[in-house]
Amino acid sequence: MTGKILSIVGVGCGGRTLTYCGLAAPEPHRYKIVGGADPNRLRVEELRKLSRNPGFRAFSSDKELFAAGKIADICIIGTQDSYHVEPALAAMKAGYDIVLEKPIARNPSEILLLLDRAEKLGRKVLVCHVLRYSPFYEKVKEIVASGVLGEIVTLDAREGVGAWHQAHSYVRGHWAVKSKATPMIVAKSCHDMDIISWMMGHPCRQISSYGYLSHFKSENAPQGAPFRCTDGCPFAPSCRYNALLYLDLHRAWLSYVMDGTGTVSNDEIRDWLSVSPWGRCVYHCDNDVVDHQVVMMDFDGGATATFTMTAFDEGREIAICGTKARLKGGESVRNMGGHDIVVEEHSGGKTCHDILIRSGGYGGHGGADSGLVQHLDLEFSKPAQEMRSGLHASVESHMMGFAAEESRISGRPVNLEEYRKMLSGKKCE
Ligand SMILES: NC(=O)c1ccc[n+]([C@@H]2O[C@H](COP(=O)([O-])OP(=O)(O)OC[C@H]3O[C@@H](n4cnc5c(N)ncnc54)[C@H](O)[C@@H]3O)[C@@H](O)[C@H]2O)c1
Repeated sequence: MTGKILSIVGVGCGGRTLTYCGLAAPEPHRYKIVGGADPNRLRVEELRKLSRNPGFRAFSSDKELFAAGKIADICIIGTQDSYHVEPALAAMKAGYDIVLEKPIARNPSEILLLLDRAEKLGRKVLVCHVLRYSPFYEKVKEIVASGVLGEIVTLDAREGVGAWHQAHSYVRGHWAVKSKATPMIVAKSCHDMDIISWMMGHPCRQISSYGYLSHFKSENAPQGAPFRCTDGCPFAPSCRYNALLYLDLHRAWLSYVMDGTGTVSNDEIRDWLSVSPWGRCVYHCDNDVVDHQVVMMDFDGGATATFTMTAFDEGREIAICGTKARLKGGESVRNMGGHDIVVEEHSGGKTCHDILIRSGGYGGHGGADSGLVQHLDLEFSKPAQEMRSGLHASVESHMMGFAAEESRISGRPVNLEEYRKMLSGKKCE
């Protein structure tokens, strides 16, 4: 808390902006939601309702909002991946500091452009690498920083996206096609690249990656499966990805992509599924992002790290081995041993940490969204370079993601120093 009320406007009043503002609005002594912009009127009205502010100002687009001049301290950019750079640049020009949803931008050149503009205009940008604010990763970082592990020698991290989540978001959904969003290792796993970079505390110098789209493609479709689950698919009763499961088992997922899910009838949902991307057979979509990928990283100082993203597991886990002790943490560690984080000293001592109760579990972002909002006013009171998930730190970890993708495609390791040099030679204007 800083004693000053931080005023906020939202550009793109979808899931993310509503989540952050919904967490900020109940603290009127710290935050004031003063306006929102979205062509979808329902969503701006939802934000108005959340804001509890009778003076809330609604706009139909980012352009209309920025034309009104600077009406708040900070601007949340919560539009989809393909539309972050333009509103972020306009927000900076209008005088705003920014809360910018990840991914920062669709390619490294745009990222460097944003960094350059933020530095020239003296704007602060906090990137929503929310895991840095989760009680779990805060604890892991605290343990690393305490020196109890000694020097980090190896780090291994995993992210199990979950099969239905993969199908919803990366096969049928917004992030299924690389050219419309970003590669999977950036769109989804930029969080993991960022946590790895944060824990290692040194620049990554070389990266290699492999990964494929193995399952969600047409050759795996049962013979005779129609393009839409709603077209009387004969495999519907046994298909774990059947879109009609949105009606009951996976109903919560619909609220991210369909307005009014709290009140619409099942018939209305069926009608919507018969025309929307979320009604398509997962084996007959236009998706091209990977459903599994591994990344190997070599850091300054000689420590190494690995990361695996797979659609076919659930939850995140991390293992850090240092010269004095080893740390293991995450959902599987808890499921097997009953503790979120276990630190075992090579000399024999063992310490267990339980964070789950405080964070409300590993579901969603494990307390990370509220963690970010709880830190927001404090973060914006710091110099830009010292913000926990400020643009500088986030650019570093995004570059690791883009370099991993480059390696996955080329089949060759990417030297990060050469990669950064090559990019700074062709910054976009
Ligand atoms: N930090 C995280 O953990 C996390 C999690 C999920 C998604 N995301 C990212 O957050 C971003 C937003 O995701 P979401 O799920 O909230 O998206 P969403 O689709 O729910 O919301 C985006 C909104 O932007 C609006 N919009 C489009 N053009 C606009 C314009 N010109 N002016 C104003 N509004 C406009 C759309 O109408 C929509 O309501 C994405 O980039 C996504 O990748 C981050």
